[in-house]
Amino acid sequence: MRFPETFIQEVVDRTDIEELVSRYVTLKRSGSNLVACCPFHSEKTPSFNVNPTKKMFFCFGCHAGGTVITFVQKAENLDFVDAVEFLANRAGLPLPRESEATKETGIPRRRILDANLEAAKFFRACLFDENLGKEARAYLAGTRALSEATIKHFGLGFAPNSFHLLVDHMKEKGFREDELVAACLAGQKNGRTYDYFRNRVIFPIIDPAGQVVAFGGRVMDDSKPKYLNSSDTPVFKKSRQLFALNFAKNMSAERMILCEGYLDVIALHQAGFEFAVATLGTAITPEHARIFTKYTKRVIISYDADEAGQKAAEKAMRILGDVGMEVRVLKVSGAKDPDEFIRKYGADRFGRILDESKTGFDHKADRILSAYDLTVGVEQIRATNEICSLIADYNSPVEREVYISDASKRLGLSTDALKGLVTQFRKKRAKERAAEETREAQATLKNFRDPINPDAARHFQAAAAERAVLGLLLRYPEYRTIVEKGEIGLAEESFLTEFHKRVFSALMELHKSEYGFRFEFLDERFTPEEVGRIRQMEVEREQLTNNGIDVFRSAVEALNNIREKEESAGEDLSASIERLRKKSRKTT
Ligand code: UTP
Ligand code: MN
Repeated sequence: MRFPETFIQEVVDRTDIEELVSRYVTLKRSGSNLVACCPFHSEKTPSFNVNPTKKMFFCFGCHAGGTVITFVQKAENLDFVDAVEFLANRAGLPLPRESEATKETGIPRRRILDANLEAAKFFRACLFDENLGKEARAYLAGTRALSEATIKHFGLGFAPNSFHLLVDHMKEKGFREDELVAACLAGQKNGRTYDYFRNRVIFPIIDPAGQVVAFGGRVMDDSKPKYLNSSDTPVFKKSRQLFALNFAKNMSAERMILCEGYLDVIALHQAGFEFAVATLGTAITPEHARIFTKYTKRVIISYDADEAGQKAAEKAMRILGDVGMEVRVLKVSGAKDPDEFIRKYGADRFGRILDESKTGFDHKADRILSAYDLTVGVEQIRATNEICSLIADYNSPVEREVYISDASKRLGLSTDALKGLVTQFRKKRAKERAAEETREAQATLKNFRDPINPDAARHFQAAAAERAVLGLLLRYPEYRTIVEKGEIGLAEESFLTEFHKRVFSALMELHKSEYGFRFEFLDERFTPEEVGRIRQMEVEREQLTNNGIDVFRSAVEALNNIREKEESAGEDLSASIERLRKKSRKTT
């Protein structure tokens, strides 16, 4: 499957890179570039650069880089074809005919989404079927206290206790078995295709665009596993999906609630807290955290009250804090989770504890203080140490100041004493961090391996020269023309490392083609990681002031010298004697 070059060009031309990237990170102007904290690795100082004129990006921290297509491939975890489709849809460009297919399964994403929608309708019909859905309706409306309006709002359903009802229905609707398997609606064993969800109430997972991308299914008793969820499919990545975000995204400008369970979220929405979401049975990932930054200022974590839930909450705090989110924690008491709390105490009371939810610091300090008896000297010292160590983790001096004054009241100690202790902890930590960084740097140097261009380890010098040559060729079309005309001794054979050779061939091939070289044409031929490396070679040249023709000539010459040296060193003795003989014959 290939897109015509003109189509790829059109898609890129119609995409505003600034607007696209802004959906993931906040861009700030810096000269002619735009900068942000990189969406592809964790950082606190921005090293992610967007060049709006060239429509290219590059991160000086993790070396991700490339075009708008590369960006979407990485940010949405899509392959080339899907990324182009994604951008085409945004730009309102109709797709060229046969390009709908996804690579892995050969089944178009559209087909999987259609199958999901049809299945959701089927599950809903089963739930409201007089006989089939009786038990499930009793469970949802009775045990879980959900109103009919809520059940319909969330599109809940029921998968009957059968191995074939859904598969039969879907086949009647024109879906093939392989399509059902790809959508994770069916499994296959011994050549038979069977319903994946059986005898479970069904929670459709709907993405922010309103498409049904997956399902979760819960048993109605205590059997195991409690939930069954769709595995990842071409339209669904668990690690970047939030349950009920389709509703919450419009109510969430000020704050969002993050829960653990589907039923917590549903109970909260029913009670009027329509800004609640949950991860899908996985711990929160940095990808999730970045989604929050698109929609809200503050996240209130409301996990289960048990030890596991509270541990998970502390982890979530860190991950959300890392992307700069304002985080609060709400721990329900007298109930195991928000769902049970609302059923027991009502919405008003939940609203009150929500407004009183604590900052991450208060929450952790509470935990520390409740573990010690402050009237006992040794215990007071331990608690003080733990709290100061906690405060030392905050990089903002203002935050530290506020927490120190808070802690001084609670511990009954002077702020000066606490300040001194916090400073000690910070110094110690800075030292540890520096030592750690040196160790890491040494470790990477020692087993220097380059996964993108593994040959570089063996041909270290050649690889460096090749990078210079390719950087210049990428940046300056006139040098490509010189090479094309054969005015300089540079050809595929000049390159010793496989990856650089591939880049050179692609570059020259495109240069000579009808459409000329455009960076986005590389996206089809190279992985996003490889494209990042290619962009890096170009950026390295952009940062140098002298890139004149003499620089290009000497870079090519250097490459050729290194290659000849390496080649002659690699020949066996007789061959090199033969070569010397020829040479001397020529000179005489
Ligand atoms: P919980 O066990 O807290 O479930 O798991 P819950 O949604 O609150 O359900 P009730 O109230 O016990 O009926 C939290 C989330 O973890 C995932 C689900 O997404 C669930 O909503 N989970 C849990 C699974 O994926 N599989 C399981 O077996 C259990
Ligand atoms: Mn629960």
